Amino acid sequence: MAKSVPDFVRVASTDDISEGKMRKVIVGTQQVLVVNVKGKYYAIGNVCTHLGGPLDRGILEGQEVQCPLHGSHFDVTTGQVKRGPATRPEPVYDVRVEAGSILVRSKQ
Ligand code: FES
Repeated sequence: MAKSVPDFVRVASTDDISEGKMRKVIVGTQQVLVVNVKGKYYAIGNVCTHLGGPLDRGILEGQEVQCPLHGSHFDVTTGQVKRGPATRPEPVYDVRVEAGSILVRSKQ
């Protein structure tokens, strides 16, 4: 039997996250970082894969977020590590925009 795909859930209004801004949202039990890069929305895990730093409290520069604890950089469009000490990428979440709402699909 096929595994069911989780639904998209509304996490914010597009007005809540303007260009160059980011925000932590909760999707199910997961902390997700939603970022607006040049008008397009992306979502990755908010918990740093190094030692759990809160990425939403870090610094966003372009499409890279810097962890506030030890300075790891993640590409918010791919979840990839751009600078350590982190070595593991962040999970990437599917994002959709509908009628002024940002929707994110949880991971199983
Ligand atoms: S917890 Fe993020 S770099 Fe260490």
